[in-house]
Amino acid sequence: QSVADLTGKHVLVSAGGTREHLDPVRFLGNSSSGKQGYALARIAAARGAKVTLVAANSELPDPAGVQVVPVVSAQDLYDEITGRAADADAIVMAAAVADFRPADVVEHKIKKTADGAVPAVDLVQNPDILHTISHDRARPGQIIVGFAAETGDADHTVLDLGRAKLERKGCDLLVVNDVSGGKVFGSDLNEAVILDRAGTALPVPSGSKDALSGVIWNLVAAHWS
Ligand code: C5P
Repeated sequence: QSVADLTGKHVLVSAGGTREHLDPVRFLGNSSSGKQGYALARIAAARGAKVTLVAANSELPDPAGVQVVPVVSAQDLYDEITGRAADADAIVMAAAVADFRPADVVEHKIKKTADGAVPAVDLVQNPDILHTISHDRARPGQIIVGFAAETGDADHTVLDLGRAKLERKGCDLLVVNDVSGGKVFGSDLNEAVILDRAGTALPVPSGSKDALSGVIWNLVAAHWS
């Protein structure tokens, strides 16, 4: 994959984890490192693509040759992705997006009170970005890739849940990570299966997030050709 096989294509990648502020210093967040999205962006650039990386709160250095757009919240990410979708030949949503945000962001730091009363936090739902861009395609022939971290449960395997999610979200490919062992988060390794539109599970050799990125771009390139 040293060939510049993505030359002439513009890809939009999201990475990291969104933060939903309660007050100026506190937020609801998640433990996504951003490593998978950054690996996708770096490898797409190395293969010749024009890459825009919308990055939510990652500490990682900007990958060479990639336009990085920093965001904080799910709403910021929604605005940047939907605003740029019409220019993208592929969109890969690797970011961990908060499903809920506090209904109100308090302007000043929340304080303890003398009577020990505990503040209540009302949550409202965030927009589902992947669902929105998949159901309302901004560009014909565009390939949209989602991620899903699943543990499975008593009645459903990880793959069952992945197939249902692919159907619901409407994306073209879904990368399903089995996180039951507490794996993946913050790790350089990834154990994943990729589902296509037909629900077929495409095997991914277990390995690095770089290797998974290479497989994802191979599948996207195959859709284009
Ligand atoms: O529903 P779930 O959060 O498991 O779906 C994960 C996929 O959906 C990821 O690709 C994530 O980036 C995307 N997502 C989104 N907007 C949300 C929640 C998730 O685009 N509000």
